[in-house]
Amino acid sequence: PQSFKLAVIPGDGIGPEVVAEAVKVLDAVTEGTDLTFEKTHFSLGAGRFLETGDVLTDGDLAAIEQHDAILLGAVGGVPGDPRLANANIERGLLLRLRFSLDHYVNLRPTRLFPGIASPLADPGEVDFVVVREGTEGPYVGNGGAIRVGTPHEVANEVSVNTAFGVERVVRYAFGQAESRRGRLTLVHKTNVLTFAGSLWKRTVDAVAAEHPSVVVDYLHVDAATIFLVTNPARFDVIVTDNLFGDILTDLAAAISGGIGLAASGNINPEGDFPSMFEPVHGSAPDIAGQQKADPTAAILSVALLLRHLGAADAADRVDRAVIADLAARGPSHRTTAEIGDTIAALLTQN
Ligand code: NAD
Ligand code: IPM
Ligand code: MN
Repeated sequence: PQSFKLAVIPGDGIGPEVVAEAVKVLDAVTEGTDLTFEKTHFSLGAGRFLETGDVLTDGDLAAIEQHDAILLGAVGGVPGDPRLANANIERGLLLRLRFSLDHYVNLRPTRLFPGIASPLADPGEVDFVVVREGTEGPYVGNGGAIRVGTPHEVANEVSVNTAFGVERVVRYAFGQAESRRGRLTLVHKTNVLTFAGSLWKRTVDAVAAEHPSVVVDYLHVDAATIFLVTNPARFDVIVTDNLFGDILTDLAAAISGGIGLAASGNINPEGDFPSMFEPVHGSAPDIAGQQKADPTAAILSVALLLRHLGAADAADRVDRAVIADLAARGPSHRTTAEIGDTIAALLTQN
């Protein structure tokens, strides 16, 4: 028997709604197998902050670190809520987890599944993965502001790119390309961000020399948004920095059936720290508490989690159940729980 310790962070808004379905599916796929998950719930997010003033304590972090993996729903309050003005849940919780647990690979697969309508008239085969750097770039919080609130305010947000950090994520991306269709696209903005761009470009060129079977190309990020809409089939693996990857993956979700289907893994490939799996979407305050959220992104994140832990059979079964549900769903308007129930039932039947 294989037993894993799973930290579950439902979070805010639709987070708890979609995580309930993801856990339902995890229970269904492991039932009757020798795979078991011992789950610990962590109450974190805007709700916890409003109650206690804590975002993520050192104690929380130490406790989470004791797990084999993390399943997260979404965090973040209603944008503009004055009570959260100084909380910075996204930085203090989500980014602190990604940085502290060295999640340098933010893996975001995009597939247009059979039966799913794309907003693109003729999308072709959409099946690519974005390898988004997860611990550097403009996300590091290296910045500051002076003369705040005056006409002379200066606000800096410095993008940090290290040779070590770029090389390790680029190597991971080449590994992905080798196990997929052998194509890798570096996306950056080397024409303007010349220092970071040069480091990324040189690193990709150097690693490419060790992987002659991978066909490498380069796109500026603005042009990449064009091709994601006009010819998404040209992509296999995209490797890019933290901020470009954030933006491109919401676009990728939109062309492949919507943000409700987009899963992600925040991965520490060496296994020194637990990896964290979460839908790409946020807490969606506009639909929270109404059972309107699609839990599929969270459920597909469970498949990524299972695959990461080496449970490939269980991961494949979840993927297949989701694909079957998507193919059959049509224009029906089911609740969050009904979608989770259907997918869980598909798993217990097969
Ligand atoms: P969002 O992803 O929460 O919502 C964008 C739009 O997509 C909304 O119209 C929403 O209703 C819709 N949507 C999102 N998930 C859906 C689902 N599963 N099914 C159907 N529709 C869905 O992005 P936002 O509005 O920019 O952010 C809201 C809050 O979430 C902010 O506080 C933001 O910082 C936070 N956020 C958190 C995460 C995370 O925890 N990983 C990710 C993104 C945003
Ligand atoms: C995401 C989110 C986060 C990010 C925010 C909430 C910090 O948009 O996971 O895509 O920018 O990485
Ligand atoms: Mn995002």
